[in-house]
Amino acid sequence: MKDAAANITYLKDYQKPNFLVESISLSFKLFEDGAEVTNLMHVVKDLDSESTELALDGEELELRSVSIDGALLNSDRYLVTESGLSISDMPADCQLEIVTWIKPQENKRLEGLYKSSTMFCTQCEAEGFRRITYYLDRPDVLTIFTTRIEADKSLYPNLLSNGNLIESGELDGGRHFAVWNDPFPKPCYLFALVAGNLHCQKDTFTTMSGREVRLEIFVEHKNSTKCDYALDALKRSMKWDEEVYGREYDLDIFMIVAVDDFNMGAMENKGLNIFNSSCVLAKPDTTTDASYQRIEAIVAHEYFHNWSGNRVTCRDWFQLSLKEGFTVFRDAEFSADMNSRVVKRVEDVALLRTAQFAEDAGPMSHPVRPASYMEISNFYTLTVYEKGAEVVRMLHTLLGAELFRKGSDLYFDRHDGQAATTDDFVAAMQEVSGKDLSQFKRWYTQSGTPRVNVSSEFDAQAQTYTLHFEQSCPPTPQQEVKEPFVIPIELALLNGDGGEQALSAFGGQKSAVFELTEKTQSIVLEGIPEEPIPSLLRGFSAPVKLNYNYTQHQLLFLMANDSDGFNRWDAAQSLALLELNAIVSTVKNGGNAQLSSAYVGAIRSIISNESLDKAMVSKLLQLPSAAYLIELAEEADVDAICTARNLARKQLAFDLQKELVACYQRNQGCEKGLSYAEMSVRGLRNTCLALLSANANDEFMSLCRKQFVNAQNMTDQVGALSAMIASGNKQDADDLLARFYDQWKEDAQVMELWFSVQSSASSYADLTHIQSLMEHPDFDFLNPNKLRSVVGVFANQNLENFHKLDGSAYAFLADQIIKLDDLNPQIASRLATPLTRWKKYNPARQALLRSQLTRIQGKSNLSKDLREVVDKSLVS
Ligand code: BES
Ligand code: ZN
Repeated sequence: MKDAAANITYLKDYQKPNFLVESISLSFKLFEDGAEVTNLMHVVKDLDSESTELALDGEELELRSVSIDGALLNSDRYLVTESGLSISDMPADCQLEIVTWIKPQENKRLEGLYKSSTMFCTQCEAEGFRRITYYLDRPDVLTIFTTRIEADKSLYPNLLSNGNLIESGELDGGRHFAVWNDPFPKPCYLFALVAGNLHCQKDTFTTMSGREVRLEIFVEHKNSTKCDYALDALKRSMKWDEEVYGREYDLDIFMIVAVDDFNMGAMENKGLNIFNSSCVLAKPDTTTDASYQRIEAIVAHEYFHNWSGNRVTCRDWFQLSLKEGFTVFRDAEFSADMNSRVVKRVEDVALLRTAQFAEDAGPMSHPVRPASYMEISNFYTLTVYEKGAEVVRMLHTLLGAELFRKGSDLYFDRHDGQAATTDDFVAAMQEVSGKDLSQFKRWYTQSGTPRVNVSSEFDAQAQTYTLHFEQSCPPTPQQEVKEPFVIPIELALLNGDGGEQALSAFGGQKSAVFELTEKTQSIVLEGIPEEPIPSLLRGFSAPVKLNYNYTQHQLLFLMANDSDGFNRWDAAQSLALLELNAIVSTVKNGGNAQLSSAYVGAIRSIISNESLDKAMVSKLLQLPSAAYLIELAEEADVDAICTARNLARKQLAFDLQKELVACYQRNQGCEKGLSYAEMSVRGLRNTCLALLSANANDEFMSLCRKQFVNAQNMTDQVGALSAMIASGNKQDADDLLARFYDQWKEDAQVMELWFSVQSSASSYADLTHIQSLMEHPDFDFLNPNKLRSVVGVFANQNLENFHKLDGSAYAFLADQIIKLDDLNPQIASRLATPLTRWKKYNPARQALLRSQLTRIQGKSNLSKDLREVVDKSLVS
């Protein structure tokens, strides 16, 4: 599959493996200076294959021995390179044993077997298993794993791996062992091992067929009080997957382990999920509501992979969205059912529009199913995940819930125990629905965000209303020309009284899904007595940029009257964008700018409307982010955008002071509960406080201090802290930060918050402050969470300081990336994202950003991860 010269892997070169692994027995001997891994495989040649050479993947392994059917191999029978071990003249069926020595203690990449604080743990997806032993490290090689772990008993009382514990016992020298067997065939990326001294919290779940499953969460002893919420979320997830997808858990035990050093959020290893501490540990006084919701979603996500990913896995890494896009769709629906459907949709669409659209317009743009990659770790992207989930959602919309469920059942049934492709998934959906989905599949192969322009014509005499649609998609790397997509557009027509017209073209339905399949298409709707206002792309029914020339008046009407909650929010966003863009232009010309009174009035009535869902009010009060304004601009003027946004916030805080304070006061109480309603109350009072911080008068200062002092939960405490930081009152901010630090310095999860609330604040943290945070004793350059909460947050959220025109922050970021690349290339490559977006900015910034990319490009021993991102970014 490799193009040797360019080191690129292509989907078109896929070939099935020439050997199968019938079973594998792994034996780990863990020591303080390394680990010995004995890998005994039953290997069988594929009948169709000619070649008798077995090429195994392996990196940074010290080979101790190779034997076949018990006989040591002479070194002329095999070849060891930097990337693997190949053995010639393999028998058609044999026992192959390979012994290697690895050094988990020196592993800073956090891929393969490594140590996180005092425990051993693994991360094998995507290609980490090859850092443990020589193997066919590809997802289409499935086998039964038996794992024996041996270690010092006092240091590592807990020895865990996938599946069921089948044996354990004592050994000489204070050591002990455990043997685990996983009866379900799996690819090696789902392998996991943990050895540590851990607290175990137990529970049980009875499945729909009446089997009792043991649930166990393992955490460091200091975190023993932080397991309850994740356990609860796990039980809710298991129940939901039974009810909504008919999916039952299959092993007798399901374990979760929390580790502090982890590149990602969490990993779905069969029966033994491994989580980043920040995505699983929670308790009321230290965890924000945002964190609770993230934990619930991610516990569900990893659990749902047991079917969408593990029982049915991916044929190759180009199919990644088969498991990730589908599972993100599943976890989003779960969260929608547990909390508010509309608010969840609003959050997901905001993320898609700011970050995924930006990715799709940038140098790393790729299809949901990429055609090639240099380093697969670079393709765990918003496109594969979020756009991939949107593609699954569109199938759900086009088929309807019932047929979609039938398709999902067929897919799981047909491919259980197999490695499948996105084509297989679509084929199942096509089969149950009888719908031809061949054109739909372009969503998997064409990159870029489609645009849809819509215009309308009303004929009063004929009482017809015509909608004209035109789709296009801008060129992206390697894809100049695009074919039309299938774009489901849910729509309705609103009357003057807010009611909906019956749609003649859709059997008289009031809200219908129009399938746009051509480049241009029109629909004529009859029996329309007065000119309606169209409500388009309801619920964001497709991941596109839809443009219709709404007047301010029409948007105000939609915002107040649309029966589609998502579109009410979207109308508010469009209104705010009109206002902000006007202010941006005035600011650019050095003028004085104001929000219109119509807009301020609309926001006023939202704050004062007590019948609205409180979480929705919070969303409606928040202006579009600066990142979104940058994404929408042709050439973004960061300074003007940030200034305009600050001006608008200040005016809202000033003009609506009375209403905001009243709303803040109305929404007190609900200090402790974790229900959606209680979280919404806390959310709304903190949204009010955050907005009031833009005009930090005495009243704000006193409310904010009081909230900080009296806070009975982390949402309120950190809400007050960040409002104070945002207010620009440095002394007060320093004071609260110091008090917060003293109170929580022992808690790693809270310290991440402490780092990130400062790093994100443009009115507080300039580059010098960021550098001082990196000198802080609680900062740790090798810990991904700490790095993200300072450097990542600074580069992605503190836009005014990151984009300083002297280029100092760009150079700083490049310094960190260069330093990190030798230690943890995955994270180094992710940190580089802000530099790759150089095309968005003015020529001066473009030059500065490019020069840092060039500097990184010149580093010696540049990792594949970083090489791919930098090379692609500097093309053109
Ligand atoms: N399989 C991934 C974790 C992963 C990704 C491991 C890349 C190795 C390389 C896991 O299922 C996942 O998608 N996790 C997400 C969170 C999820 C809620 C979208 C993550 O870790 O960010
Ligand atoms: Zn996932």
